[in-house]
Amino acid sequence: MKVFVTRTLPGKALDRLRERGLEVEVHRGLFLPKAELLKRVEGAVGLIPTVEDRIDAEVMDRAKGLKVIACYSVGVDHVDLEAARERGIRVTHTPGVLTEATADLTLALLLAVARRVVEGAAYARDGLWRAWHPELLLGLDLQGLTLGLVGMGRIGQAVAKRALAFGMRVVYHARTPKPLPYPFLSLEELLKEADVVSLHTPLTPETHRLLNRERLFAMKRGAILINTARGALVDTEALVEALRGHLFGAGLDVTDPEPLPQDHPLYRLPNAVITPHIGSAGRTTRERMAEVAVENLLAVLEGREPPNPVV
Ligand code: DGY
Repeated sequence: MKVFVTRTLPGKALDRLRERGLEVEVHRGLFLPKAELLKRVEGAVGLIPTVEDRIDAEVMDRAKGLKVIACYSVGVDHVDLEAARERGIRVTHTPGVLTEATADLTLALLLAVARRVVEGAAYARDGLWRAWHPELLLGLDLQGLTLGLVGMGRIGQAVAKRALAFGMRVVYHARTPKPLPYPFLSLEELLKEADVVSLHTPLTPETHRLLNRERLFAMKRGAILINTARGALVDTEALVEALRGHLFGAGLDVTDPEPLPQDHPLYRLPNAVITPHIGSAGRTTRERMAEVAVENLLAVLEGREPPNPVV
């Protein structure tokens, strides 16, 4: 029985599959073109895809005996869940293990944007640092700012904890209020009140371009946007405009499209800090994600209920 893994994974989790007698085929390149994915899923009973692989009905139909898609991610927007449901294929994901790493990167981006860390580093490296000056590279103090979290699941809550340690006030918007010690606001109220808006909601048809032009410009003048969730939650073109005067800056670990083309205007804005979707990229976190994906996959193949089912 073959399991196809669409990228090499850190750690030794895949050994568990081999120990159970499964044939593990791993794609070793950086990219996996759709045509190759289609070829290599043939004959697979299990598939471990990354967020970059679109797992649609065509892929599922090629893998005739496919029983489980064990996503190496918490987000599952890259999988056609309806198609999986119709075909009786289980879909699982890796929640929990990447919460702290993603919250850390959220704060890293927030600090980088608010305190102009990337601009400052370039300024020093490029030989422009000639003297200390009281008005050099002034940024925003986090202390006393209001952080508006959109989405208040595990990652949103982990970001809230960190923000409190920096002296920020936390408000949030989610589908429904939760028993949490932070004010729940409508999205419109949050955009008006927050000095920093940080997105922590899954990408679904309902949340696609949640921050459209109108909402981006409804954010406070001089506010910061942080996105470590999914790029398509934001209208990218409108964001470029908003960053040319309305917003103080943006920290983006995810973009739409992804990867962002090298000549994209976002790369030319000094107030945009962009990282290549590395929210969960702590070595331990990525190893644990592999262990969770493997456990989910084995559970399905062995006829047990997987610990982290989506479908
Ligand atoms: C996820 O898990 O959904 C991240 O985007 C990648 O780790």
